Amino acid sequence: MASIHSDNEKKLAALEALKYVTNGMILGLGSGSTAEHMIHGLGVKVSEGLQVKGVPSSERSAELARELDIPLTTLEDCGKLDLTIDGADEFDPELRLIKGGGGALLREKILAHNSKMNIIITDSSKAVERLGAFKLPVEIIPLAVWPILEELNAMELQPVLRKTGQTNYRTDENNFILDLNILKQDDLTALNDTLLSIPGVVETGLFLDTTNILIMGKREGTTTIRRA
Ligand code: 5RP
Repeated sequence: MASIHSDNEKKLAALEALKYVTNGMILGLGSGSTAEHMIHGLGVKVSEGLQVKGVPSSERSAELARELDIPLTTLEDCGKLDLTIDGADEFDPELRLIKGGGGALLREKILAHNSKMNIIITDSSKAVERLGAFKLPVEIIPLAVWPILEELNAMELQPVLRKTGQTNYRTDENNFILDLNILKQDDLTALNDTLLSIPGVVETGLFLDTTNILIMGKREGTTTIRRA
């Protein structure tokens, strides 16, 4: 459960990110509690006359956007997104991210890849010197779960199949998630490439080079970090 302070920091970051939104933009809408603050703020702006369209990264964000009367569109209809605003589970000094705590990493990465600009919004607890205290989510095809578990165990990544209660967690694409311990991994690009080369692995929660701007909420105000 998020503390009141971290929730306030998330809200501050979300409101700051909305300053980058201008009339006519096609926006990627992230997922998670920080992104939901942003979607609420966007709903207010839309009710005041801002004209934008959103492409949601999860069913949950789509539902929230519909409730707030934010017009939605699809990547097929709009092509490139002007701006995507999303949260993160961890970020390091190079603005590399771990995402997917909420299970939406696949659609989030598709939006990030197809966006002209990506702004990440977080509370201050997400800043780390080295990625990996948060387990790395990896989306996999259910059919391949057993061989993938074996392969990742052999790589000492300690995969854990994500559960909701007694049942296996399912993503919006009806896939499974494995959460991996990557603390001992020094080369994250090589790790990402290796994971993606395993048949049945659909996507990883490593977002190594998509972030343009990161806005971190603090007790009072926000800090904005731009990719060098
Ligand atoms: C969902 C995500 C979220 O951005 C991440 O889990 C952060 O969530 P929150 O804003 O609730 O802390 O990657 O797949």
